[in-house]
Amino acid sequence: MNYADFYRRSIDTPEQFWQDEAALIDWNVPCTKVLDYSHPPFAKWFVGGQTNLCHNAVDRWCAAQGERAALIAISTETNTERSYSFNELRTEVERCAAMMQSLGVGRGDRVLIYMPMIAEAAFTMLACARIGAIHSVVFGGFAANSLASRIDDAKPALIVSADAGSRNGKAIPYKYLLDEAITLSTAKPAKVLLVNRNLAPMEVVAGRDEDWASLRAANMDAHVPVTWLESNDPSYILYTSGTTGKPKGVQRDVGGYAVALASSMKYNFCGNAGETFFATSDIGWVVGHSYIVYGPLIAGMATIMYEGLPICPDAGIWWSIVEKYKVTRMFSAPTAIRVLRKQPPEFMRKYDLSSLRALYLAGEPLDETTSKWISEELGVPIIDNYWQTETGWPILSIAKGVEDLPTRLGSPGVAMYGYKVKLLNESTGEECGANEKGVVVIDGPLPPGCMQTVYGDDQRFVDTYWSTFDGQQVYSTFDWGVRDADGYYFILGRTDDVINVAGHRLGTREIEESISSHANVSEVAVVGVEDKLKGQVAVAFVIVKDATRTADDAGRAAQEREILGVVDHQLGAVARPSRVYFVPQLPKTRSGKLLRRSIQAICEGRNPGDLTAIEDPASLQQIQHALHGDAKK
Ligand code: PRX
Repeated sequence: MNYADFYRRSIDTPEQFWQDEAALIDWNVPCTKVLDYSHPPFAKWFVGGQTNLCHNAVDRWCAAQGERAALIAISTETNTERSYSFNELRTEVERCAAMMQSLGVGRGDRVLIYMPMIAEAAFTMLACARIGAIHSVVFGGFAANSLASRIDDAKPALIVSADAGSRNGKAIPYKYLLDEAITLSTAKPAKVLLVNRNLAPMEVVAGRDEDWASLRAANMDAHVPVTWLESNDPSYILYTSGTTGKPKGVQRDVGGYAVALASSMKYNFCGNAGETFFATSDIGWVVGHSYIVYGPLIAGMATIMYEGLPICPDAGIWWSIVEKYKVTRMFSAPTAIRVLRKQPPEFMRKYDLSSLRALYLAGEPLDETTSKWISEELGVPIIDNYWQTETGWPILSIAKGVEDLPTRLGSPGVAMYGYKVKLLNESTGEECGANEKGVVVIDGPLPPGCMQTVYGDDQRFVDTYWSTFDGQQVYSTFDWGVRDADGYYFILGRTDDVINVAGHRLGTREIEESISSHANVSEVAVVGVEDKLKGQVAVAFVIVKDATRTADDAGRAAQEREILGVVDHQLGAVARPSRVYFVPQLPKTRSGKLLRRSIQAICEGRNPGDLTAIEDPASLQQIQHALHGDAKK
């Protein structure tokens, strides 16, 4: 098939195009209207249709391939490995659904999932989908304050967690962090369901905390039928960082998401039922939702959930998994590949990787060196794909399942079907021509699978995403980009205060707010600075109240440790800056706006740009000086 024609059809006749795609999934009742865009920018897909994500991911496959593997949970932290067939997965999901119902959870209730990468996390997500409860998975790397703000926003009826996660053999006390978060939150959950892995002590709160194993034992024979949902009912909320300190709850639907995932599994990931998919992400991120849990299962594939590091027990671990489970499609992030590149290549060459057909990389820019290296090592196509928590599936890539178009180094590819991608000039709002830098935007309606709204705040959805350009309602990705004459896009970084550390999306404002809560911090600026391994790292510049405490090296080191400790404690290690520098003032405009981009440029050894509005140019030298002092050590 010719991709250009396929794409055109998706843009020119979207209703026909997506109606055809809808046949990839099961519907209890077909839709009465494919698209309702009567209230832009809110798009409703498959209106009136009734379906269910859990049915499509699990039950649907039980008849034809019930004995085949569906979920393979591997932990190199606890040295456990367990495979569940589609039939077994359905049984566990039904038990979990019954457990949740016995705790009072029903359709439309929110269930917050704060869990490590264990099979029970997937059971819980699928069980929520089965009964129409709305899950909100919070990444395990987030700590008490991050968790508390998500509890307050979603007001969950139930929180599902575990005693601990494990990273590099060290227990991460989830339950302890959760208790702290619940203390901080105003919306207290009625019930907390806990998987006890015997990794860390748990203090049980009587009347609130329930033990997974006991409750499961009481529901062994449970049968919980699928609740058919209207296509536009919400399936889940996933919080993500933006410009403000308050993360946004990205809300997704049921039918549109199922169809988008089924299509992307076919055209992008070329996954066939009976094969094995391995995404190395975490269920706490969108890649985990779309391509660890729902996508592969909807395609009838076995999916691998992996808890552990890519280099433990050694750098061959992922490749041994590929060999053992005959993985055909693998999905990872450039940082992970850069980590592996530092290891001796023997680890990769030791295993039979002949089952592998392609490696997909996303989440951050893919540099040419990494791309070339891994492509030569594996001898399979490396397929970059660009998208966001908000879209749920790739915006830019090469849909090899439609046409085997060539990839281009440094480019994630061309606009994916359904996405009317274009570039707008930041100042004039006019459309950019070939090779002109602009903001990557998408014309509405967004295709199926994309966010419906910001949870509980429609206005914020409109104001945040659709109001960047005066007089035009277009969806802004907040990424800079450029397109070549052949339609290949190149992503050039964010236009807002979001940074990308090892493929993890973080808001610098959130980190600043956390640092500001330290008693001796008067002002702070956090910027993302280029890093060879992680893509970017966060670096903080702080003005202290009492400068005597940062007068010498020992004082500065102690103060830095304390500040990093605050971030660890409040947001989690994932948000910890790589360095904290102490400066007497921060570069600002005369109207008091922080010049983050200039600070970032100086950190990266670039020209700080237009400084006509700067209040005191000496402030930039002070940044230089702080960095320089470090370089001298
Ligand atoms: O800046 C872009 C970058 O990651 C952002 C979205 O992150 P998140 O919401 O966590 O979703 C990740 C889904 C894969 C984007 O706005 N980004 C994502 N993929 C790429 C990328 N930058 C360059 N190349 C990519 N392939």
